[in-house]
Amino acid sequence: MTDAPSSAGDSRFPAGRLAFPHRDLLGIAQLERHEILYLLDQAEQWVELNRQSTKHVGLLGGLTIINAFFENSTRTLLSFEIAGKRLGADVVNMHAAQSSVKKGETLIDTAITLNAMRADAIVIRHGSSGATRLIADKVDCPVLNAGDGSHEHPTQGLLDALALREALKKRGHTSEDFTGLTVTICGDILHSRVARSNILCLQAMGAQVRACAPPALMPVGIDAMGVEAFHDFDAALGGTDVAMMLRLQSERMSGQFIPSAREYHHLYGLTKKRLDCAAPDALVMHPGPMNRGVEIDSEVADMIDRSIITQQVEMGVAIRMASLDILTRGARGVEGWAA
Ligand code: CP
Repeated sequence: MTDAPSSAGDSRFPAGRLAFPHRDLLGIAQLERHEILYLLDQAEQWVELNRQSTKHVGLLGGLTIINAFFENSTRTLLSFEIAGKRLGADVVNMHAAQSSVKKGETLIDTAITLNAMRADAIVIRHGSSGATRLIADKVDCPVLNAGDGSHEHPTQGLLDALALREALKKRGHTSEDFTGLTVTICGDILHSRVARSNILCLQAMGAQVRACAPPALMPVGIDAMGVEAFHDFDAALGGTDVAMMLRLQSERMSGQFIPSAREYHHLYGLTKKRLDCAAPDALVMHPGPMNRGVEIDSEVADMIDRSIITQQVEMGVAIRMASLDILTRGARGVEGWAA
């Protein structure tokens, strides 16, 4: 594969609609169902390339992508870097801890600085909800949200959907979406941008979503998102097709939200025994990083036939390749894409 296919006439898009009408990828909330499916379809093609020994194409040759990370990351930063490099772009990483942010430079001045370097896409992770929107409003190139506070982590929602779709396909499912599927998301829902992006993405694809957390870690008004809320983990797992586990985000907690990690594991940790409450062969997911022995036992995380945690990481590279490709098509003058 040397060229990404043009979306012109793509069957995913209603007639007369722009192929992908967004300059930025800031949240799943901005996407319609057909746009999510289009991103997943495009990413699927990059999965093939990523499994070959030579994983490089020149599609984004000459473009500069800046990954500006104001929070720690392993998976997201590395997969955006790998994605950009595999597509042939020049990729530069800015770690806030080693930047002039430490000398008091504001987020807006940092954004203006990156823009002046004529980046062709900027990937941002920031601890404040809405920071990526703020930056997008100040720059002239596409901005991709790599996680903003407790708000959204759109490429995580997309990669989780792709990993789930691939796993279901391997089991003989033929549907392109998740109609009829129940997914239980359990953990620190209150602080989780991953939960929010996943709820929106899974629902857009037709899944029923349950959210399970201790009362202190469940957002007020979660029902308004159309999820079924639980505090009893066994009940939340009852007959579910997928258990998606989240870690406790202690870096976002001010004060004591749980009595102890030991007690949390007792009530909300996914053990082999507890997984028996779910549907037979239910899949296990976790966005990482995992705290083994707290929200998930190793025995479950490493189950070869049930856990798709490493597949989630693999799909992350493909989703980020698809996102960078699609969002830079206007600048690259691809037919059918507005600059
Ligand atoms: N899932 C996720 O965002 O992981 P990182 O924090 O390692 O990027």
